[in-house]
Amino acid sequence: MPSSAHVRKWITEEQNRFIFIWYHAEESAPTWQVPVIDEFSSWVYHGRTDYKVNCHIQEIPENGADVAHLAQLHGPSMLGIGSKWFSHHHWIVNWTGPEPEQEDQHVAVSKIQHEFRLMNYVSILQTQVEAQQIGPGLVHLWMDTYFGRLVIVQTVTPIAPLVQSVIHRIYTAPSVPTLYAKLVLWGEAVMVRTNERERTNERTKVERKMFLMASLQQDLQLRRSKMIN
Ligand SMILES: [Fe+2]
Repeated sequence: MPSSAHVRKWITEEQNRFIFIWYHAEESAPTWQVPVIDEFSSWVYHGRTDYKVNCHIQEIPENGADVAHLAQLHGPSMLGIGSKWFSHHHWIVNWTGPEPEQEDQHVAVSKIQHEFRLMNYVSILQTQVEAQQIGPGLVHLWMDTYFGRLVIVQTVTPIAPLVQSVIHRIYTAPSVPTLYAKLVLWGEAVMVRTNERERTNERTKVERKMFLMASLQQDLQLRRSKMIN
């Protein structure tokens, strides 16, 4: 039997209506399991969003850990209602990093209190969010809302160099109206698009600076060569 006559074997796990494949750059065995979402047996699926994001997979968890960007980037009303003085999203975040030596040391958790405010004082919609960063490609976003509990499962899959497939699927308790579930999913999609737009703007600024520096260097070299000649 020639040594080339074989295919690579992948470790897989079917959990929470997904099939996960374990990948490790150095081919190490899995160090953690996907947590079971018991609620799925009685909860309702309300749809998904699917985006291709141009970045390294590491940038997505780092963006989640950057809690300061929530107010800055996701403060203005997603519904586009008036100025930021009329309505805005208010975020209070408590970030907990993984504890060493614990069984769940791979999980990082941020607890977020979200309010939609009118005139900065009137809070008309409150949501308690617990974002569990379980692995680089898996996040469970638990939300306690006025209508009941829900979870958004975010998966991030590298599909090409510096291209990630980012998918959000939403499941809710039966008490949550479909329209509200769709609104939450749409809000999540707006946040992904806002992040992507901001990152593209930043990248463009950096590229412009690099281009200017390269042009200046070329000018200097040209002047020097003219002075020598
Ligand atoms: Fe964001």
